[in-house]
Amino acid sequence: MGGPAAPPFSARHRVSMLPVAVSSRELHMPLSETVSIVVLTGAGISAESGLSTFRGAGGLWEGHRIEEVATPEAFARNPGLVHQFYNLRRRQLLDPAIRPNAAHRALARLEWRWGGEFLLVTQNVDDLHERAGSRRLVHMHGELAKIRCTFCGDVRAWAEELSVATSCPACGRSGGLRPHIVWFGEMPMEMERIEEALAGCDLFVAIGTSAQVYPAAGFVEMVRGRARTVELNLEPSAASHLFDERWHGPATEVVPAFVAGLLGEDVER
Ligand code: OAD
Repeated sequence: MGGPAAPPFSARHRVSMLPVAVSSRELHMPLSETVSIVVLTGAGISAESGLSTFRGAGGLWEGHRIEEVATPEAFARNPGLVHQFYNLRRRQLLDPAIRPNAAHRALARLEWRWGGEFLLVTQNVDDLHERAGSRRLVHMHGELAKIRCTFCGDVRAWAEELSVATSCPACGRSGGLRPHIVWFGEMPMEMERIEEALAGCDLFVAIGTSAQVYPAAGFVEMVRGRARTVELNLEPSAASHLFDERWHGPATEVVPAFVAGLLGEDVER
């Protein structure tokens, strides 16, 4: 994963809200012409479930930018701090109050109801898409609810606190466990599968992502001119101008409306 994209937010990127009453007709596109759909999601889709985004207000963690706790260098320098950061996020995800929202459910419905090729690529490390029912899903930045042993390569589900003293359940050695998360400077997961899906897609939809982190921020340019491109976000992202269509508003309103338009259904609230 590369660093943040060059253009930061500026005054001209300020909020332009989608009028709340979006008719399905306005968002309709002829599905018959669509063979393959790729959806990219970011932190914005989980915001209304109670998980904070990375770059919004409150996006700092105890004065650290995400880039300062999400690098292999940070982990080598201060593994306790990095474990603490991910322990907190893992604990938050296990809170029963954190549940999938209408946007997660709408994407699961799209996957199940629509018969063509489909891939949901998420930058999110939460498991709200799975909990909503999504199955054709790639966690390109890894998964908070899993850990990996850097000694033996074992990857497994993990709901506990993690520390430098925790020993690997597979090989028994301690000091080698890390969150199964892609940090800055590391390769995102399953890039081959993602690139293959992007190469063949007719509809590309980016949801709740600021387009500040590559390679995900560059997906729209990979498909532009060949696929129909749609941005669904609270406000224009850094890449907004590259999309054919832009719908700005809260994910729980915009995503169900968009999916209903695709499937010719009534909107779920
Ligand atoms: P960001 O926090 O950068 O961006 C979140 C986007 O969601 C912003 O554009 C917001 O305007 C939008 N947003 C906020 N609330 C929303 C809502 N209710 N409905 C719709 N949109 C909303 O998050 P990402 O783009 O996902 O990587 O960040 C990309 C990567 O940067 C993350 O995966 C993470 C981070 O470093 C790792 O930690 C590996």
